[in-house]
Amino acid sequence: MLYAISEIAREAGKIVRSAGDIAAKTHIKTSAADLVTEYDVAVEAFLKEKLLALVPDAVFFGEEEALQGDPSKGWVFIVDPIDGTTNFVRGFRQSSISIALARDGQVEYGVVYDPYREELFSAQREAGAFLNGQPIHVSDKPLGEGIFIMGTAIYKREYIDPSMSLTTQLLRRSCDFRRFGAAAQDLCYVACGRAELFFEYSLSPWDYAAGSLIVTEAGGVASTLQGTALPILQRSSVWVCNKTNQGLLAELEV
Ligand code: IPD
Ligand code: CA
Ligand code: CA
Repeated sequence: MLYAISEIAREAGKIVRSAGDIAAKTHIKTSAADLVTEYDVAVEAFLKEKLLALVPDAVFFGEEEALQGDPSKGWVFIVDPIDGTTNFVRGFRQSSISIALARDGQVEYGVVYDPYREELFSAQREAGAFLNGQPIHVSDKPLGEGIFIMGTAIYKREYIDPSMSLTTQLLRRSCDFRRFGAAAQDLCYVACGRAELFFEYSLSPWDYAAGSLIVTEAGGVASTLQGTALPILQRSSVWVCNKTNQGLLAELEV
């Protein structure tokens, strides 16, 4: 199953990689900060067809289409066809395809594919996490010797101040931070030890479902900013880190 989902992600990646004239195919979704391109819609349609052929009785829960069916029971694909749409539109080549397959509200398989670097992160529950087939693990560095990644939750403007406050608190305790603009990959970068920690005040299920399994299977922890379990099927704050920094959340003003 993990291999089949990975192959579908790689195929979808070809659409992302070969996209041309993106500016002319970009439309405003809710605001100038929230864009959708015709490629987001095309990649989602491609993924829906291929993934439902793989698991015909699954519900498809994608970013670009209205949900049909109850995602909390049985199998559900949770899909972001292009995570990092603004990067995609602006030519940053920092975007990914994120696919989770959950059963009864628990993620069983996760795949995050960066079609530019051809990095495919994957995990199966209780079977470990991988980057292009090689096992990956979170780092063991304390934040004082490490870096963190943050997301600005920019679609929810009320989180700008709290996001900046938490960034300041963590920056004082760390070497530096990064803001890449593609949350699914951000989670995978913690999973493979490129960074020690990631947070964002508000993410959608398709942003974090696959990546959160990849982090936990890589030996990290994933929770809300309140320290509770991620709801997986709902918008939520997200905090992930290696085990060394597990206690840090309780020391911060969130
Ligand atoms: C967004 C990206 C971004 C994060 C936003 C997400 P999109 O997804 O992951 O890094 O800060 O919260 O919504 O809209 O590019 O698919
Ligand atoms: Ca996204
Ligand atoms: Ca998206």
